Amino acid sequence: MKGVILAGGTGERLMPLTKVTNKHLLPLYDEPMIYYPLRSMIAAGVKEIMIVSGKGHAGHFLELLGSGKEFGVRLSYAVQDEAGGIAQALALAEEFADGGSVSVVLGDNVFEDVFVVSDFSDGARIYLKDVPDPERFGVPTMSDGKVVAITEKPKKPASGYAVTGFYVYDNTVFDRIRKLKFSKRGELEITEVNDGYIKEGKMDVCYVKGFWSDAGTFESLFRASELVRKLKQGSD
Ligand code: G1P
Repeated sequence: MKGVILAGGTGERLMPLTKVTNKHLLPLYDEPMIYYPLRSMIAAGVKEIMIVSGKGHAGHFLELLGSGKEFGVRLSYAVQDEAGGIAQALALAEEFADGGSVSVVLGDNVFEDVFVVSDFSDGARIYLKDVPDPERFGVPTMSDGKVVAITEKPKKPASGYAVTGFYVYDNTVFDRIRKLKFSKRGELEITEVNDGYIKEGKMDVCYVKGFWSDAGTFESLFRASELVRKLKQGSD
């Protein structure tokens, strides 16, 4: 299976840290943020990975990560011209996917857990984590222990879970993205794609063990750095 790391966006919530650099190149403790989702992808057994980033910084990712040789993987790069959301960025990987399934990770997500994707055949898979602040994320509605819907950043979350930024999709994801309309925040929402799979009964739901954090706000960036530091010192 091929993998896609989504590292576009303007990093608006981290201004002025993101005024001259890309969010995913900022430090998370002792390494650039993108190293962490890259390692999650590699740990999942994915060896061909595309990095989608924005116009201004694509060259920086190339300089930092090169061909991927240092990591034992093959990297390729795509540029998202405008920041139009996660689903729009993923659409750029259609040719790269070459008719197959794709694992996707958001470039600002840090996972302690390791995922297995080799057993995936069709439909889609999401990874949930219980969090104290679900309203910041895509949130599942559960009924009899099953996920029946997902809502993006709901004011009144229907559960205490967040949909984390690791996903697995079959190749129909690209047709699904083509049918999306821009949301109120001007993005093609990955949550709408996920909700579609759920409504068709084609979504596999997994739960994340250990810590997980995004790093798109000052608080989450700080917390993720602290958690990474703790984990690295603990394993010294
Ligand atoms: C995005 C997704 C959201 C998901 C989150 C995970 O949010 O839209 O569903 O829960 O990533 O990090 P954003 O970072 O765009 O606010």
